[in-house]
Amino acid sequence: MTSDHAPEWWRTAAIYQIYPRSFSDADGDGMGDLRGVTTRLDALRELGVDAIWLSPFMTSPQRDAGYDVADYCDVDPLFGDLADFDAMLAAAHERGIRMIVDLVPNHSSDQHPWFQEALKAAPGSRERARYIFRDGQGEHGEEPPNNWQSVFGGPAWTRVTEADGDATGPNGPQWYLHLFDASQPDFDWANEEVREEFRRILRFWLDRGVDGFRVDVAHGLVKHDELPDYMPPEDSDSMGGTEPVPYWGQEGVHEIYRDWHRVLAEYDGDRALCAEAWMPTAAEVALWVRPDEMHQAFNFPYLQAPWDAARLREVIEESLEAFGGVGAPTTWVLSNHDVVRHATRLALGPGHPQGHGVGPKTPGKPDPAVGLRRGRAATALMLALPGSAYLYQGEELGLPEVIELPDDARQDPTWFRTGGERYGRDGCRVPIPWEAHAPAYGFNDTGATWLPQPSEWAELARDQQEGDADSTLNLYKTLLRLRREHALASGELSWIDGLPPQTVAFRNTGVTVIANLGAEPVALPAGRLLVASTPFDGDALPADTTVWIAED
Ligand code: GLC
Repeated sequence: MTSDHAPEWWRTAAIYQIYPRSFSDADGDGMGDLRGVTTRLDALRELGVDAIWLSPFMTSPQRDAGYDVADYCDVDPLFGDLADFDAMLAAAHERGIRMIVDLVPNHSSDQHPWFQEALKAAPGSRERARYIFRDGQGEHGEEPPNNWQSVFGGPAWTRVTEADGDATGPNGPQWYLHLFDASQPDFDWANEEVREEFRRILRFWLDRGVDGFRVDVAHGLVKHDELPDYMPPEDSDSMGGTEPVPYWGQEGVHEIYRDWHRVLAEYDGDRALCAEAWMPTAAEVALWVRPDEMHQAFNFPYLQAPWDAARLREVIEESLEAFGGVGAPTTWVLSNHDVVRHATRLALGPGHPQGHGVGPKTPGKPDPAVGLRRGRAATALMLALPGSAYLYQGEELGLPEVIELPDDARQDPTWFRTGGERYGRDGCRVPIPWEAHAPAYGFNDTGATWLPQPSEWAELARDQQEGDADSTLNLYKTLLRLRREHALASGELSWIDGLPPQTVAFRNTGVTVIANLGAEPVALPAGRLLVASTPFDGDALPADTTVWIAED
C-alpha cells in the first residue's frame, strides 16, 4: 500500500464463492452455468458481498468437477462460452462486484493436448518433460517410482501404455505422477516451458478483466528433487499432513508466486492472488503472503478449529500475528466446496478428517439444530474479525451438508478411489435452493439437478427466508452491512479479559463481540445490541450464540 493509494480491496473484502455447477442453471440441463450466475448477481448485491470467487468453468472432462482442465483459456460448453463469461464479468463490475477466478496450476486434465502429446512421445522427450514421468522400480519397472499416495486415495502414480512398446527400454512403460485423480497429471514446474505457459494463461484472464485468481493447490507445485518416499499418517487430513512432506510447501513454490506477483503488478486495479495452501499452521500459511508473493491465503487452520473457545482464541491470535507480521490481511473462511459445510461440521464430534466427508453410514449423526445455531454463531464471530472473509454459496441460507445422498448419485473421485470408504465432498456441492415452490427449488426451470436436492430444502429456499427477520439470510445481510458500517474488516482486535473461559470476546473499532461456545449462559456487558446470531430474551448470552454490542 502506498500513501497515494486507497487500501487494496482484497484486504477487507467479503468474497462469495460461486461453485458454478450448483449455483444457478439458465439452460436447464441440471448443471449450473455462467448465464445462471449473471441472472443472480442482484441477489449477491443485496446480500452485500464485495467480490466473487468463481470455481472452475474452464474446458474440462469434469472428472474432478472442473479441477481437471483441458483448455485453460476457454469456457467449458457445460457452462457457456467466452461471450457469456465477458457478459457475466461486465454485469458483476457494473454492480461494483469484483471477480476472481480459479486457476489450477498443479495439474491439468489427462485430456489436455500437452498430456496427450506426452503419451504419444517417447521417454525423455520434450513432451514428457512438461509432466512428471519416471521409470518404475523393480526389475522391469513394474513398481511405481515411489510410495506416494493420491489425496483422493490409492497410489499417486499410474503406468502408461507406451505408444511404441519397443522403444521403452529395459524398464518397460513409464509412470506419471498425479497427486489427485489419475485423470489429473501433475505438471513439472522445474520446466521453464510450464512457467511460461502459465504466465500466458494469467495474462489471458487479466486482459479480459478478472480481478485476480484463487490458486488451487498452491502448496503443491514443486516436489522434492529426489521424490523420496513419504506416507501420510493414518487418518490424516486429505490435504493436510504434517511437515515435512516432499510434495507440500517446498521452498521452490514461492519463486513461482513472486513471478506471478510481477505479472499482476503490470495491471491496474489491485489484482490479487489467493492461495489455497493447506499447511498446518498460520505461520506456515503466512509464507504465501509475504509482500512480494500472493495477496491472500485461506486461513485453513481457522476453518479446521473445533467448536472450542480456547482453540479459537489461540488460532485467531496466531493468525493475526503471523499474517500481520508479513503485512498481509488474515483471510477467514469456514466453508468451501471441499469441506463439510460448517452448519453441520460444528456439530460433528472429533474424528472426521477433512476430505473424508459424511454420509449415511457415518457414526454419530450431528444434530441439525445445534449445527445451524453454531454455524450462525461462528459466522457472526468470523465477520467481526479484521481482514478479508470468504463465504461459500448456500451458507447464507444455513444449508447443512447433505448426508443422505444415495451412493449411486455420488461423483467425487474420492468416493471411487477409496471404494466407497470415504464419502468425499458431494454433500456440500448440491445445487442451492432459490424458490420453495419451483422445479429444483428455482435452480432452473426443468427440475434437473446433477446431484439430488433434499426435500427439506424447500423451507431453506431464499424466497422463504427473505421476509423472515430472523432467517439466516437476513442474519448474513445484517452482519455484512454492520461489518461495513463499523469498518470492522480494517479494524484492530483487542481481547476482553475476565469473561468465562467458554467465551471468545474482543473489541474491534468500538464494537464488542462475544461468542458463547459453552452450555451455560453468560452475563452480558452494558451496551446497545447490534446483532445476535440467534435471537434471545433476557440479558444473558445463551449457548452457541454470538453478539455484537455497540459501546455508545
Ligand atoms: C483443490 C480443490 C479441490 C480439487 C483439488 C484438485 O483442493 O479445491 O476441489 O479436487 O484441488 O484440483
